Amino acid sequence: MRKGFIFSVILALVLVLPGLSQARVQGPCADCHTMHNSQNGAAVVSGGPYRALTKGDCVGCHTGGPNTGTNNIPYVNFTSAPTYGNFGIESGTNTLAGGNFYWVAQGSDAKGHNVSGIASQDGAIGLTPPGWNNTDFQKNGAVANGEATWSQQLTCAGTYGCHGDHQYTDDFKAISGAHHTDDSTIDGSTVGKSFRFLKGIKGIEDSDWEYQPTSTAHNQYYAVDRIGNFVDDPSAADPASINYLCAECHGNFHSGTGNTAGADDEGSTVGSPWIRHPSDFDMNNVSSKEYGQYPGPFDTAGTYWPGAPVGSTDLSGVKSTVLQAADDAIVLCISCHRAHGTPNDDLLRWDYTQCNASSGSSGNCGCYACHTTKY
Ligand code: HEC
Ligand code: HEC
Ligand code: HEC
Ligand code: HEC
Ligand code: HEC
Repeated sequence: MRKGFIFSVILALVLVLPGLSQARVQGPCADCHTMHNSQNGAAVVSGGPYRALTKGDCVGCHTGGPNTGTNNIPYVNFTSAPTYGNFGIESGTNTLAGGNFYWVAQGSDAKGHNVSGIASQDGAIGLTPPGWNNTDFQKNGAVANGEATWSQQLTCAGTYGCHGDHQYTDDFKAISGAHHTDDSTIDGSTVGKSFRFLKGIKGIEDSDWEYQPTSTAHNQYYAVDRIGNFVDDPSAADPASINYLCAECHGNFHSGTGNTAGADDEGSTVGSPWIRHPSDFDMNNVSSKEYGQYPGPFDTAGTYWPGAPVGSTDLSGVKSTVLQAADDAIVLCISCHRAHGTPNDDLLRWDYTQCNASSGSSGNCGCYACHTTKY
């Protein structure tokens, strides 16, 4: 009897343990939910009740102290100053892959996405995203209902947001069920099975959201090489690429990479000299130039460097080396930017004012990772 009991406990552990590797919420329902938002006649959480009976809204739950890397909730909005270093990856830093909303919440509009509930609308830019293209890049659903000029502020999820399903204005509706979805397979088919609940986007998710990432522990971003695939035609761009996510709101900065100006700056051919910085472009195409020495001063040539990440078409595993085979070193919008925010203007990964040609200093400008002969 007693042996049988111990055996069942062990069996239960064996059955439960594989679940720990799945990136879906765990723990007591009461940690996250309240059924009536009332206990002993008093409110359980102020400001509530919230939808899906949660103990907070998106911003509320994802706001917290500096992440220790062992917490099971990705805090993206710290209440005290994060430690960022030069690139947000060094030992001692405590931000995650998207950076942090702390700086934009403090009132520095250029240092983050001005998401409703975190910061008021961007004083310089207003509501409409720079580079907004309201007809292309709608394969994952039309953001802002395709309005020519945005009538509402950016939100975490939904019609005016990055995460979830763009057909729903309500951000909880847009993300419904995602937190409880087993996402051991990420194919973009549902919100829960998309990379970080970004509907339609693929990739491999780092288990601690890139807390102090290394060449072997990092997100693997999905991307495609525009050469041979879609050149500059947005209708042929792969909607599962992380660059497509940015293009859903900043389309002209993605398509406008040709070498002649025209409608949306689309050129009939692409290549150097470019008219906008390329993304979805494989550095294997130009590895005989300085790009073959990526990541330049930061590590041995051919090592993946999370300070200026590159994407791949192959998602069979996390790549610690790149420039080994076609389509494994693709330039991303987030090679230079972080999605939530950074201490730098234009939510850049590093301080652009430190980028000086022929300075002899290689320390703190990420452009040098690819432009390996320019410092
Ligand atoms: C009750 C608290 C709570 C609320 C409310 C909440 N989240 Fe989360 N969220 C979590 C926790 C806990 C996790 C970590 C789950 C895990 O292990 O992947 C998480 C994870 C995430 C992730 C990362 C998923 C991944 O693949 O790693 C995203 C994106 C996210 N939440 C977005 C949102 C958005 C958008 C909203 C609002 C619609 C929201 N969350 C509301 C608690 C919450
Ligand atoms: C759902 C729409 C949406 C998506 C998706 C989106 N953005 Fe934005 N972005 C905006 C809006 C709206 C603004 C202007 C208001 C603001 O600054 O937040 C903006 C502003 C910016 C700015 C300028 C910030 C400033 O204040 O100077 C940068 C840089 C940027 N986005 C980069 C990106 C990158 C990189 C991605 C992909 C990871 C991305 N955006 C995805 C809507 C979006
Ligand atoms: C760590 C936080 C967390 C825990 C623990 C948690 N939930 Fe949730 N749950 C959420 C969040 C956040 C949402 C709303 C966003 C979403 O649907 O992804 C949600 C949504 C739901 C929904 C509506 C969407 C759906 O999947 O149908 C149900 C039902 C639900 N939870 C039931 C439960 C029950 C029952 C438990 C305990 C056995 C539980 N939850 C434990 C965070 C949690
Ligand atoms: C992830 C790698 C990567 C990073 C980081 C990067 N670039 Fe580039 N850049 C490239 C590639 C690849 C090209 C295209 C080169 C070609 O076609 O010969 C390019 C093209 C350019 C061009 C146009 C060159 C031409 O031949 O027309 C300029 C200028 C430029 N980058 C500046 C910068 C600056 C400034 C930064 C930092 C803010 C930066 N780049 C960061 C990879 C990168
Ligand atoms: C090579 C690094 C690099 C890459 C790759 C890159 N950007 Fe930028 N981005 C910058 C810099 C630097 C600025 C500052 C303005 C400038 O130099 O034009 C900027 C500015 C922006 C702005 C703000 C414009 C404004 O009016 O304030 C947006 C939005 C933006 N980028 C989106 C994107 C998107 C979307 C992609 C991918 C399609 C992308 N960026 C790729 C470096 C980059």
